[in-house]
Amino acid sequence: MRFGLTAKLFCAVLAVNMAVVIATAMATRVSFDRDFIRYLDEQEMQRAERAVPTLAAEYQAHHGWNFLAKNWTAWLRILHSTQDSVPAGAENDSDPAATNMRFALIDARDNYVVGNSEPTDRSLRRPITVNGQLAGWLTMVCMRDLVRVGDIRFQEKRTQTSWIIAGVTSLLAAAIALWLARALAAPLRRLAGATHRLARGDYVARVPVVSGGDIGQLETDFNQLAATLADNERTRRHFVADVSHELRTPLAIMQGEIEAVNDGVRPIDACAVASLQVEVRRLNKLVDDLHTLSLSELDTLRYQWDDVDFAASIRHALGLYQARFASAEVAVSATGLFSSVHVHADEDRIQQVLQNLLENTVRYVDPGQSIVLRLHIVGDDAVLDIQDSGSGVPDDALPRLFERFYRVEGSRNRATGGSGLGLPVCRSIVEAHGGHITASNAPQGGLWIRMFLPLMVTTP
Ligand SMILES: Nc1ncnc2c1ncn2[C@@H]1O[C@H](COP(=O)(O)OP(=O)(O)O)[C@@H](O)[C@H]1O
Ligand SMILES: [Mg+2]
Repeated sequence: MRFGLTAKLFCAVLAVNMAVVIATAMATRVSFDRDFIRYLDEQEMQRAERAVPTLAAEYQAHHGWNFLAKNWTAWLRILHSTQDSVPAGAENDSDPAATNMRFALIDARDNYVVGNSEPTDRSLRRPITVNGQLAGWLTMVCMRDLVRVGDIRFQEKRTQTSWIIAGVTSLLAAAIALWLARALAAPLRRLAGATHRLARGDYVARVPVVSGGDIGQLETDFNQLAATLADNERTRRHFVADVSHELRTPLAIMQGEIEAVNDGVRPIDACAVASLQVEVRRLNKLVDDLHTLSLSELDTLRYQWDDVDFAASIRHALGLYQARFASAEVAVSATGLFSSVHVHADEDRIQQVLQNLLENTVRYVDPGQSIVLRLHIVGDDAVLDIQDSGSGVPDDALPRLFERFYRVEGSRNRATGGSGLGLPVCRSIVEAHGGHITASNAPQGGLWIRMFLPLMVTTP
């Protein structure tokens, strides 16, 4: 049989409560029996001690104890007479006889004279001396013996009261334990329920953050975890949708062209082959970019690290694009490219980044506009600034440029638009080099891409 959390907590709290109650009851009983009753006995004895001088005087007057032997009247009279001289306490008034019944007189040879005939070893004693000689003892039966010997009813009543107190305390402890167990278990049960829903793929499962301390932190963390999982799931679905969409477009075009050739609508000439080639190239680029991104995400992208002259790499990339800039009528100016800037990098990957960035400027900058490239050093980084005077991107799109498949509205036409993987690939490569890349608005009005690469640490 399995117990729930509430039942377990209930038992634990109840057990602790009961243990405390039992321990307290036992401690109270021991201290009552031992210390408090002894204290009362001592008090009583001190009061009775006032009779000692009177008894001594009587002994002297009657030359012994014979006059008192079993003479209860005289005995009680002596005790009364000494008590009368004391301001009467409440208990003296209420039951003086019963108190006096505890006393006894014993002669010097320990023989019983008068009073309580059942003195025990524990009885308290005070010596009665006459002219320096022991004449006898005033003894008092202590309360514990009195109870044991006589008053069984008192014992019974005490046991009965103890049971009632134990019963009421147990009920109270159980009520507190139940309340505590429920209060403690409630947030954990909520969390358990929500975790179960989350595990079944219900990503909207959340728990209210109502507790404080560690449980409150757990509730907050759970909600964060659920939000992250929901976010990942959304991204995954979008990613699959985007990939299939990007693959579908060139495939549909190729299928159309092939069918046209097949049906004899279109002759199979150099023009048709070139058109097919464009689409195949587009597909290749898409698959390459996806491959690069997935490898870098899995941390399995292999880099050929080398001492690379970043300035020379940029000159090389610019050389490749010179003709295209000329035909697009885009003016390019560059500074800082003629002194070596050494970075620890993979030359091919750096070329891939530079060509992606230059490809974007060719695509998205209109004829008559200009591009400014500047390579310089900021702290421990080599920084390449690429600014253009094109139409740029709206402010709200800037932070999203490095998201996969993100394209600014209007860049989606097939003549200029890519698949939206260029900048994400750039970022993953730059970050693998320990650098970073940012996008902002250029003073000329277009886009400003800043690429930071850590400088090579030269060992002296
Ligand atoms: N120099 C630029 N000027 C204006 N917009 C740009 C520029 N470079 C990139 N963009 C915008 O950023 C988007 C994402 O760029 P990118 O990741 O390279 O994807 P792609 O070029 O395949 O569309 C582009 O679709 C375009 O809208
Ligand atoms: Mg691009």
